[in-house]
Amino acid sequence: MFKNVWKRRAKLVEEDLIRELHRREFLDKNLTRAMEYSLLAGGKRLRPILLMAAADASGTNGEKFITVADALEMIHTYSLIHDDLPAMDDDDYRRGKLTNHKVFGEAMAILAGDALLTLAFEVILRQKDVPNAILLEVLEEISVAAGAAGMVGGQVIDLRSEGVKIDFETLKLMHRGKTGALFRAAIRSGAILAQSSPEKLEKLTIYAENFGLAFQITDDILDVTGDEKILGKPVGSDAKNLKSTYVSLTSLDAAKNFAQNAVDEALNALKNFGDEANFLRELVKYLVTREK
Ligand code: IPE
Ligand code: IPE
Ligand code: MG
Ligand code: MG
Ligand code: MG
Repeated sequence: MFKNVWKRRAKLVEEDLIRELHRREFLDKNLTRAMEYSLLAGGKRLRPILLMAAADASGTNGEKFITVADALEMIHTYSLIHDDLPAMDDDDYRRGKLTNHKVFGEAMAILAGDALLTLAFEVILRQKDVPNAILLEVLEEISVAAGAAGMVGGQVIDLRSEGVKIDFETLKLMHRGKTGALFRAAIRSGAILAQSSPEKLEKLTIYAENFGLAFQITDDILDVTGDEKILGKPVGSDAKNLKSTYVSLTSLDAAKNFAQNAVDEALNALKNFGDEANFLRELVKYLVTREK
């Protein structure tokens, strides 16, 4: 059941992303193609899906907030384009296709990422039927999460942790930033848009933080045990770059345990929610079994 909802909503997001991308003419056709190439290359659309599910769990149909959901996918896609660049993880495949810089060149990949990030904030301003004060709150949530205190900051910790031994606190901080921040913003934004109570927002935030942790630990595990064809990106990228991950710092089994504990914590945070949070429950349980 939850997979059908996921699929249907992912399709809605994709159709809306195309609309947003072509709302105005950009100055260069190749730039437009580069942006579209990565944005529409597939991908699980988890951040938009989470935003909608958090709104559902707060008592409002999350599909109303598809515009803000689109913006999160744009920011995420930009982060992937830059993450794959030679100066960062230097990877050749993403979402089952050649990486952006392999097709369009490094300079265009950097600029396509920049343009997607900027477009995201333009798109948020087009969200309908939300009071301005709420939209401002969401803007703050997303901009802080995407930047130096969130995703970008985490990526910097990731890069400076290559080939060195870091402690567990640094590892957690890195995960919280590079991956956790956008998931947290997705869920909090959904709840804020749905005008959730402060108590629910707090519980959903705990869910989000554990979701992000379980997600990135599983990403680290799949980098070792995954199947490239299913994953759509290279296996062994972390080892190649001497990355510090849950697997390299502990072991495969220990990493699996950490991920399962985070899933349990996330479920526990939802214990006072009713059926309206079933999608969130199914999704976090699915994380540790996923193959892509
Ligand atoms: C990959 O994210 C990057 C990380 C944060 C680990 P996803 O696994 O959500 O990537 P797509 O969007 O499905 O391609
Ligand atoms: C990247 O983490 C997180 C981002 C902000 C993109 P990874 O470098 O592990 O992501 P993958 O494995 O390349 O998708
Ligand atoms: Mg990386
Ligand atoms: Mg990477
Ligand atoms: Mg990875």
